[in-house]
Amino acid sequence: MKIAFFDAKPYDMPGFEKYGKENDIQFKFYESMLNEDTVALAKGADGVCVFVNDTLNAAVIDKLSEMGVKIVALRCAGYNNVDLQHAFGKVHVVHVPVYSAYAVAEHAIAMLLTSIRRIHKAYIRTRDFNFSLNGLTGFDLHGKTIGIIGAGKIGRVMMDICKGFGMKVIAYDKYPSGDDIQFVPLEELFAQSDIISLHCPLTKETYHMINEESIAKMKKGVVIINTSRGALIDAEALLSGIKARQVGAACLDVYEEESDVFFTDYSGHILDDDTLARLISMPNVIVTSHQAFLTNEALENIAEITTQNLLEFFREGMCRNELCYHCGKDEKCKKDRNHKCF
Ligand code: NAI
Repeated sequence: MKIAFFDAKPYDMPGFEKYGKENDIQFKFYESMLNEDTVALAKGADGVCVFVNDTLNAAVIDKLSEMGVKIVALRCAGYNNVDLQHAFGKVHVVHVPVYSAYAVAEHAIAMLLTSIRRIHKAYIRTRDFNFSLNGLTGFDLHGKTIGIIGAGKIGRVMMDICKGFGMKVIAYDKYPSGDDIQFVPLEELFAQSDIISLHCPLTKETYHMINEESIAKMKKGVVIINTSRGALIDAEALLSGIKARQVGAACLDVYEEESDVFFTDYSGHILDDDTLARLISMPNVIVTSHQAFLTNEALENIAEITTQNLLEFFREGMCRNELCYHCGKDEKCKKDRNHKCF
């Protein structure tokens, strides 16, 4: 089995090499992201393995299908970068639904604590033997209200951690479930929360859900955390909210236009994205470059589950982690009957 592995990074390769060797899968690693210019690299491969910023639009899917590539194995949970509607009937798409909800929730908390206790500023100061405390005043999390948008796997871990801090936890979910969670309408979450953390997927409906209008409804000084997908937030509106002192701090692990810059070392270069540069320049904004998943445990799980997905597909003719445009919507998806979407 030959798999073209796009956007390969040094931290990805050891796990996939190990599972590949054990299971007779030949991963061919490419540093390039998958897009219309690089899709030809997949020639001769049975499948492609991709990450969050690879492009799987109609043109790339058609090319993969023409070249005989049968499967797109996402080594991540989110799949907003895949045109699932176009892929149906052409290439199968599988993902890793869970690899470590803890990794992401713990990173969200790390960013929150860093931001509100000014750790990023203190670290730089003490390295310079500056032991002044001026400007480093933070606030207690205990007693504050956090609003979680998307009470799924990561959102729930986040809630448990926040309860440990003695915070009041409220949540909004399009499909609320669970008696132990205090669900509120979105407007109420905006109005009541001292901190808002995003854990829902990026869809047409959630695109720019944090915008000028919603920011205006939030408490003055609100802290916004996004470890989900960049385009949940209108970055320009966030910047305006920060400049107007309406938003007290932002912790961003994802950014709307991240595919142009994240995962690459641009130090020493001039950043073309003025909005990102301006956000990074703010003393109350912390940006990490889609790092929340990056723990040893998560990387191990990603490599193991992706390998299992490929083995199930090629050896057993099925895959439990397959996704399609029709899944759960209509009869066109045959997963319930055939263990494969089409
Ligand atoms: P999940 O599927 O377990 O939970 C998502 C929740 O969002 C579900 O409860 C769902 O009902 C809810 N939801 C769906 N549509 C909604 C809407 N319109 N409004 C409000 N809630 C809605 O997903 P999980 O594993 O908790 O992941 C959440 C997100 O985290 C993923 O979509 C992905 O984008 C992001 N992620 C980011 C990572 C990173 O490294 N920064 C790593 C892994 C995931």
